[in-house]
Amino acid sequence: MKRFLITGSKPGFHSRQLSSAFSRLGAESSFIPIDQLTFHAHSPNLPDLFKGCDGAVLRAIPGGSLEQIIFRMDALYTLERRGIVFLNSPKTIEKTVDKYYTSSLLAEHGLPVPPTIVTERVEEGLEAFHRLGGDVVYKPLFGSGGKGMLRLTDEKTAEQSFRELVSNGAVLYLQRFVQCDKQDIRVFILGGRVIAAMRRIGVEWRANCALGGKPAPYRPSPSVKNLALEAATVIGAELAGVDLLPAKDGTYYVSEINGSPAWRGLSLVSDVDIPGEIARYLLKKTSEIQATPQG
Ligand SMILES: Nc1ncnc2c1ncn2[C@@H]1O[C@H](COP(=O)(O)OP(=O)(O)O)[C@@H](O)[C@H]1O
Ligand SMILES: [Mg+2]
Repeated sequence: MKRFLITGSKPGFHSRQLSSAFSRLGAESSFIPIDQLTFHAHSPNLPDLFKGCDGAVLRAIPGGSLEQIIFRMDALYTLERRGIVFLNSPKTIEKTVDKYYTSSLLAEHGLPVPPTIVTERVEEGLEAFHRLGGDVVYKPLFGSGGKGMLRLTDEKTAEQSFRELVSNGAVLYLQRFVQCDKQDIRVFILGGRVIAAMRRIGVEWRANCALGGKPAPYRPSPSVKNLALEAATVIGAELAGVDLLPAKDGTYYVSEINGSPAWRGLSLVSDVDIPGEIARYLLKKTSEIQATPQG
């Protein structure tokens, strides 16, 4: 019987849905919090929990100190080197959790990213505030769910906020505010295919479901699908939730790429069995890898 692990911070809705999907397909699965793993650095073997494991779904890297996060990433890389097939790979997760890493890679590949300036200096931040049109979004580099973001529209508040953020150790990731009627688009990608999409209608400028944004059915046009697929490909994400900002002037900007996307909201407006698709994909992928002669 195939055996999979679901890793993340705590078990919850998504890991339970994935577990049921694996068991419907005749595979076993269990949840492992990444911060509970112990490694024997003197041994080249897999930790016991991972022995006989066919693959793992990486749901989230729990927040923590710099040391804890680097160790958790290193641990994932160790597991990957020792043969664990991850969805997504640790490299992809490392890129997607970092908004600067993602935006700069997308821009290097010619994809539309809202004008964005990143600095650790308050003075440069203020210059960026003006250069970006005086209506600016600050985002925590490693944030999610819209948490910690600020919309800044006057110089005084911007300066105060930048001083406070920088003195608390933040990097100023500043982006032009894109007029998009409190809406955004989430495109869900798996294995180079768009499997579902939704429009989110926000109660405020951030359309995140975590902040009360309401999912609405949405059929992406071929060009929107292509844009989201290209963005996921640039980041190397097999599984991705690509967030697009539909600007009033008709441009679709890539706001961010989630490498461990949620599907709770999306499943309200899509008929696709998302956990089932993910489980089937990983089963197929690991069977193909195991069937390929090595060396
Ligand atoms: N530059 C922007 N202009 C206008 N709205 C934005 C901008 N960037 C983000 N948003 C809104 O804020 C939400 C959260 O931003 P996002 O970059 O996806 O960060 P998070 O990782 O916190 O979800 C988006 O879904 C969108 O509704
Ligand atoms: Mg988002």
